[in-house]
Amino acid sequence: MKQNAALIIGLLVLGASAAFVTAQDPGRRGGPPSGPASGTSFDSAPLAKDEAEKKMLAVLDDMNSRSRGMLSVPRDDGRFLRMLVEATGAKNVVEVGTSHGYSATWIGLALQTTGGKLTTFEIDPERAKLARANFKRAGLEGVITLVEGDAHTEVPKLKETIDLLFLDADKEGYLDYLEKLLPLVRLGGLVVAHNMSARQADPRYVKAITTNPQLETLFVNLRDSGIGVTMKKR
Ligand SMILES: C[S@@+](CC[C@H](N)C(=O)[O-])C[C@H]1O[C@@H](n2cnc3c(N)ncnc32)[C@H](O)[C@@H]1O
Repeated sequence: MKQNAALIIGLLVLGASAAFVTAQDPGRRGGPPSGPASGTSFDSAPLAKDEAEKKMLAVLDDMNSRSRGMLSVPRDDGRFLRMLVEATGAKNVVEVGTSHGYSATWIGLALQTTGGKLTTFEIDPERAKLARANFKRAGLEGVITLVEGDAHTEVPKLKETIDLLFLDADKEGYLDYLEKLLPLVRLGGLVVAHNMSARQADPRYVKAITTNPQLETLFVNLRDSGIGVTMKKR
């Protein structure tokens, strides 16, 4: 248990460091590493350990280059999600807000290692269609299930225990998603919320995750998109 807590704290520190780098180089969304030219920060880029990962990273690069209007997470937020899923060994991941499937594909990359699965929700049929095509070319059809429709009415149909929940849809809906899905999140499981900067976050959601003694919440990357990482205490 202590090991898991140390692991998550380590990941949050990493996330905060990545956030610092992104804040130094806000225009970067997947381009080559710019290096520590300013002398104030380090940079890192994803490196494939084998051919399978190389192929997946190429698909992710291509998706990122076509992400205009898709509102997808920045590359390093995708990498952070992959780390959280893979390092915690998550087997059942739920995402609300698929768009064309960029963050879901990062999560899928991790799930290939953990042997887990992702259920992701998207209300827009065009985006859902694009996402399905992207999952196919990434070889993730067997790993990711896309549920098309309004997640507010669809998520109550979920019954299985959730290891990691990622919220990235309508910001004013986060509280409703939390209330509906937190009972399913396992003890020690994570709720990760995107767009938690002061400008974007719904104060009702922020209050819910910061005033509940059963939860431990940290915010990372606040100078960029802002990510809330909440652990359901054991
Ligand atoms: C910020 S984008 C998601 C980006 C995606 N997570 C990524 O990084 O690739 C938000 C998505 O949530 C979808 N959305 C908004 N309200 C929704 C709802 N009530 N149910 C399901 N999806 C919703 C939008 O259509 C949009 O595609």
